[in-house]
Amino acid sequence: MRVQVIVSSRHGSTDEIGDAVAEVLRERGHDVERLAPADVSSLDGVDAVVLGSAIYMSQWLEPARDLVARHGDDLRRLPVWMFSSGPVGPEVTPGSATTRIHSLLEAVEPLDYQVFSGVVDRSVLNLRERSIVRMVGAAEGDFRDWDAVRGWAAAIADTLAAV
Ligand SMILES: Cc1cc2nc3c(=O)[nH]c(=O)nc-3n(C[C@H](O)[C@H](O)[C@H](O)COP(=O)(O)O)c2cc1C
Repeated sequence: MRVQVIVSSRHGSTDEIGDAVAEVLRERGHDVERLAPADVSSLDGVDAVVLGSAIYMSQWLEPARDLVARHGDDLRRLPVWMFSSGPVGPEVTPGSATTRIHSLLEAVEPLDYQVFSGVVDRSVLNLRERSIVRMVGAAEGDFRDWDAVRGWAAAIADTLAAV
C-alpha cells in the first residue's frame, strides 16, 4: 500500500520517530514516502497516512496544524494514524499532552492516536525555549521508547495488511 508518513519536528527528534515508523512499514512491504507537512500538496493516490508532530506549549507545531486545516476532509476519508512526541521525564504522563490536540483528532478521526516520549537537549534550544524548559522544570535527556514506536508501527502494518 502507498503510505505517507508526514511529520513536523522543530529539533529533529520527532523526525527520527517518523523515520523509524517509515522503516518498519517499508520492512513490511509498503511503499512509504517520508514527508514534512509543507511537502504535501495532494493526498490523491495515497492509501494511508501516519501523521505526527512534536508538542510545544501543549499543541502541535504549526505546519502539522496547517496540514490538517488544508487536507482535513481527505484525511478523514483515509485510514490515518496520528502521534505526538513530547512528554519528557518520568513524572510526565502521556495523557497530559493531549488537551489541545482534541480538535485535530476530531477533524481527522484517526484509527489510533499515540503519545510518545520525546527529547530535551538544552544545547539545541534557543534562549526562549531554554527558559521555558527551566520554568516548567522539564527533565533533560532522550526519553524516546523505540520499542513502543516500532511496536506501534508494526501494528499499523498488520492492520494495513488486513485491509
Ligand atoms: C519550549 C518547549 C516547550 C515544550 N512544550 C511541551 C508541551 O507542552 N508538552 C509536551 O508534552 N512536551 C513539550 N515539550 C517537549 C518537546 O515536545 C520535546 O522536546 C520533543 O521531543 C521535541 O521534538 P522535536 O525535536 O521534534 O522538536 C516542549 C519542549 C520545549 C523545548
